[in-house]
Amino acid sequence: MIKQVLVLNGPNLGRLGIREPEVYGSASFDELAEVCRSTGRKLGLSVQVRQTDDEREMISWVHEAADARMPVVLNPAAFTHYSYALRDALAMRTAPLVEVHLSNPAAREEFRHTSVVAGVADGTVAGFGLVSYQLALQAIAELAAEAEPAQAPGPELEPEPGDTAP
Ligand code: DQA
Repeated sequence: MIKQVLVLNGPNLGRLGIREPEVYGSASFDELAEVCRSTGRKLGLSVQVRQTDDEREMISWVHEAADARMPVVLNPAAFTHYSYALRDALAMRTAPLVEVHLSNPAAREEFRHTSVVAGVADGTVAGFGLVSYQLALQAIAELAAEAEPAQAPGPELEPEPGDTAP
């Protein structure tokens, strides 16, 4: 069955393209969403991309993903740096989680150096623009494959006459 993945984006990311393009690039949010969906198709993932400026809505999507055992690629945007509520929701996750950023917060203002989300994620990809999302989806594909139950064992073989017990 094709794996469903949510790519969730926090506040102000809906304004990509016009928002500080020197920091976040010139691609629009719709272009970002299309890159995620087409990367997903190549990896055998069905990717749904969402964006919200609302913490309550973001948390409800994280709950939805946990209930459905769905992996998440998350750009928490500014929530990264202060939302303990989002972190607590993510701590209930039941599937892989990769934090993603277009810019490299570690190379920017001091307040961006803390991620309250990083500690509950499998890992973080930051600083590569849209490629951050492609790398994050690749990581999700790997993690999801690892988590798949091992191939079912074959039927027990009947002992051949003359076989000795080990
Ligand atoms: C961001 C980095 C955050 O510090 C910032 O608040 C954002 C975008 C990024 O993708 O680079 O909104 O998450």
